[in-house]
Order: sequence, then C-alpha cells, then structure tokens
Amino acid sequence: MTSEELEKLLAQQPVALLHRLARGRVHRQFRAGKRRLIELLLQHSSQNRAGLESDLQTLIGERQSRSQSGQSHRPHAPVPHPKKTSLRGGDSEPMESAISLSDWLKGIGVPPPQPFIADPWQTEALAAVSETDVVISVPTGSGKTYVAVEAARRAMEDNRTVIYTSPLKALSNTKYTEFSKIFGSDRVGILTGDRQENGQAPLLIMTTEILRNLLYDAASGEIDIRLDTLGLVILDESQYIADPERGVVWEETIIFCPSQARLLLLSASIGNPQDIADWLTSIRPTTCRLVRHGTRTVPLRAGYLHPNEKLTPLFRTQGIPYGHPSQLHPEAKRLFLEYEDETLPSGRSRR
Ligand SMILES: Nc1ncnc2c1ncn2[C@@H]1O[C@H](COP(=O)(O)OP(=O)(O)OP(=O)(O)O)[C@@H](O)[C@H]1O
Ligand SMILES: [Mg+2]
Repeated sequence: MTSEELEKLLAQQPVALLHRLARGRVHRQFRAGKRRLIELLLQHSSQNRAGLESDLQTLIGERQSRSQSGQSHRPHAPVPHPKKTSLRGGDSEPMESAISLSDWLKGIGVPPPQPFIADPWQTEALAAVSETDVVISVPTGSGKTYVAVEAARRAMEDNRTVIYTSPLKALSNTKYTEFSKIFGSDRVGILTGDRQENGQAPLLIMTTEILRNLLYDAASGEIDIRLDTLGLVILDESQYIADPERGVVWEETIIFCPSQARLLLLSASIGNPQDIADWLTSIRPTTCRLVRHGTRTVPLRAGYLHPNEKLTPLFRTQGIPYGHPSQLHPEAKRLFLEYEDETLPSGRSRR
C-alpha cells in the first residue's frame, strides 16, 4: 500500500475506528480530531508500517462483520447530516432514556464544611512512612496531599529536610503556593527550570528532573544539597515511572535517592503498584510498603465538550458504563458525528 493509499483508507474510516487504531500509538489520541489523528498515524507508520496496516485491516474486517451481522451502529452507506435526520445507526440503540444535562451536573460544587477526619488509608500511610518507603495507590481526589503534608511536617519537626517533586513546573508552582501557606514562606523553597527561590528552605519543591539532576551532581561530588539531612523525598504523580520517555527519570531518582531518606510515592493510577513496591524493596535498604485504597471519593462523570462549547453528558447514565458504545448519550453522539463530518480531510467528505 502506498502512503497515499493508506491515507485514503484511513480517511474513509470512522473516527472511532481511528481512535482504536491509535491506542498505544498516539499519545493523548482522544484530543485529536480526525484530520490530526490521520496525520499522527501516518507519522507513526514510518516506524512500523506493516503493523499499522495489519491492525487497520483487522479493525475494518471486524467492523464489516459486525455490520453484516446487523450489530453495527455506524453503517458504511453515505449518511444524511445528523441535524436533518436521525443519527447514523440510531435505530439499533437501546430505548432507555438518557440523563439530562442539568441532572448530570447536579451536586457539583463546594460541599458544606465538616470537621477533618483522616481516612484509614491516610493514617496507615502516615504510620508506615515513618518506618519504611511507601507507595500510595489511591484514586484521584482521595487526599494524597494530606499524607504528603503531614509526613513533611513530621520530618521537619525531626530536623530533617524534605524534597517534594512533581512532573510539571505548573504543579510545582501550585504546590509551592499551597505549602508556603501551610508551613510559612520561609520554610518552603522552589527549584524548577524557571524559578529558584529560597533554596536553603527545609522543604524544597522541584520537578522530578531537577531532583534527578541534583542527585547526579551530588553523586559526582559537584554540589551539596544537604543530602545528609534529607529525611523524606515525596514523588507526586509517580505513575510517570511508566512513561516511555520520562519514566527513566523516576527510576534514576529512586535509585540515586540517599539511603537514609524515606521515599513516598504518590499515585492515582499505577497499574502494577505491588511490582513497584517490590522493586523498591529490592533496591533500597528498607522495605517498601504499598498502601492501596480503591473507593473513589469523588465519583467520575464523563462529559463531552464540543469545540463549539456545547457540553453534554457522554453516556446515558450519570455513572460510566466502562465505555460501552451503545451507552453513548444521544446528544454526545450527535455532536461526535457533526465533529467527524467537520474534520474530515477536505475533499474526502463522505456526505
Ligand atoms: N480525609 C479526608 N476527608 C475529607 N476530605 C479530604 C480528606 N483528605 C483530603 N480531603 C480533601 O480532598 C480533596 C482532594 O485532595 P488531594 O488534592 O490531596 O487529592 P489527591 O489524592 O492528591 O488527588 P490527585 O490525584 O488529583 O492529585 C482536597 O480538597 C482535600 O482537602
Ligand atoms: Mg495530588
């Protein structure tokens, strides 16, 4: 298949198929419109053209056999504009009614103030980090910051210094502001590529790359970041260890972390946290304890924001039915189709 043929074949496919094809190939593929997705897939195909073509043929085959057995929601035939008539494949949709936008938005806001009571996993993690390294794997919005703050407070009360790292300069800036309010601005410093303030403070916030570089330099004796007094290193968003490009930074930071400092890895979405805890145990002088908690304190709601700023629930129900396509909200589906039509490469419109 020539590049032009491949591009043409890709352009003939529905965007949902392209998204499936893009999984594992294109980073953040759900943010890309059809035109961009095709561009990225073509770029990727320079590395493994045969693999891409064969996956594409498989997906097309699956789609055809689904449509032959009458299960398709998206027939091949040219379709009328969604605004003028029913949705493509809408006939086979379940008849269950869909949630309204106002019901979907209900309950979002600031809850009434309540006394703070630490969750059992927070107490468990805090107790553990005074003795061992700890990996925390809990859903997003569960309160990992509380553990980081309290562990930092305890380490500083013990006259130990603390380093907190995040993968992003923006997050480091936010934490700098947040921790300065909690501990006082004289107790907190920041070191990122853009900002160096209060570098002698007992609590230093930095990007993980900066810490890795400091540890490199310290290992070669070039600078002194008071490694002897370092009591705690907190690696926030440590699921980045799985990132194909940046993951090595987390690995090296862990490997070079001074032995007397405790490591606290915070993560919302490590797929294999036990493996990571076991690896830490195998390379560090102390064991590593895994603290897990599965219940989501803040339930997820999936919505779809069309580039025309129209917001709609993504699924028929408030909860997330694990992406089952038949559960798509009719309005979201209509907007998808509209977007797909709008973003088809010029001259290749299927209408
Ligand atoms: N035990 C608790 N009870 C009630 N609210 C809590 C508790 N612990 C933390 N919170 C609140 O939960 C919210 C989310 O906390 P936090 O930002 O620490 O979450 P997180 O786990 O770091 O999430 P993310 O994965 O998004 O970084 C904050 O407003 C925090 O004050
Ligand atoms: Mg957090």
